[in-house]
Amino acid sequence: MIRKILKWTGITLASLLVVIIAAWLVAYFNVRGRQNKVYEVNLREIAIPTDSAAVAAGKRVFEMKGCGGCHGAKLEGHTELDDPLVGRFSGPNLTRGKGGVGNDRTDADWLRALRHGINKEGKSLFIMPSYEYYKMSDEDIASVIAFIKAQPAVDSDLPRDKLGPLGIVLSALDKVPFAPAEMIDHEYVSKPVVKKEVSAAYGEYLSMSCTGCHHPDFKGGESPIPGGKFVADISASGKPGKWSHSQFIAALRTGKTPEGKELNNAEMPWKMTATYTDDELTALHLYLQTIK
Ligand code: HEC
Ligand code: HEC
Repeated sequence: MIRKILKWTGITLASLLVVIIAAWLVAYFNVRGRQNKVYEVNLREIAIPTDSAAVAAGKRVFEMKGCGGCHGAKLEGHTELDDPLVGRFSGPNLTRGKGGVGNDRTDADWLRALRHGINKEGKSLFIMPSYEYYKMSDEDIASVIAFIKAQPAVDSDLPRDKLGPLGIVLSALDKVPFAPAEMIDHEYVSKPVVKKEVSAAYGEYLSMSCTGCHHPDFKGGESPIPGGKFVADISASGKPGKWSHSQFIAALRTGKTPEGKELNNAEMPWKMTATYTDDELTALHLYLQTIK
């Protein structure tokens, strides 16, 4: 009797193991296939300025989009996550220093990365949130590239990115934006210039930076960061919908909401929104309030 039970327990466990391994292999090949997909895109080239006004404007774009959060304040690169199960990813060193990708990138390469989320080989970049950037105006995208190119070289060689076993499963389930090129409308043509004014239209333009976490409908939900905090609803139906403009400005500048909640910059990057002007935050609030 005991031998029979042992035998059947063994068979059950072995079958379970086979099922788990098979499911993992399906996830693995799904993710690898999507990472190795080569995209054919029509890169619309634009001139990249070199004057100091453009570089200064690009520095603001870099701060407003929170690029430094992953690439470092000196563009030297920064390891954002290093977990044996989920994986490791670093915003690479963008300068011309040792380990910097700036050594051999052309204007077209920078543009392809920001507009299409694609690397030199035509494959999707890993994790880089280009889906929040590709609609930037030609002026803004050109100035941020001008800023990157104007930065002094910093030596910093970071280890290569990789997905761990759990990271592969989460990616296959689309819980992690591991292949941003999939999330981009590659036919989209940006405006040459976007008017910077206190209007819902300009707020909509700025709100691109919020969609990756707050979801494109701004209703919040699951975080794109594995294990990340539940993301709040910031549309008219959420708490910020009831705030005055000055309360909205104060919350996004100090990290403290009118209800007294302290926002953690690692979850909700309020140090990024703290760099926005009153007019920019008002425009954002105007737009978010139109989303019922
Ligand atoms: C969430 C983290 C994150 C943020 C925010 C981010 N990046 Fe990245 N970026 C990455 C990662 C990771 C890569 C490397 C992708 C790869 O090598 O596949 C990358 C790659 C790049 C590349 C391509 C580098 C190359 O190999 O050619 C450029 C250019 C770039 N980022 C610029 C920016 C700019 C400009 C911003 C802000 C507008 C920004 N990034 C914001 C994570 C980030
Ligand atoms: C990296 C992810 C991320 C990005 C990018 C992001 N948020 Fe958030 N945001 C969060 C999370 C997570 C919370 C919830 C924090 C909490 O509950 O403590 C939050 C909360 C908020 C709140 C407070 C809501 C409340 O009910 O208290 C406001 C306001 C807000 N975000 C506005 C914005 C705006 C505007 C942008 C774009 C400029 C933005 N966020 C970009 C993740 C993000």
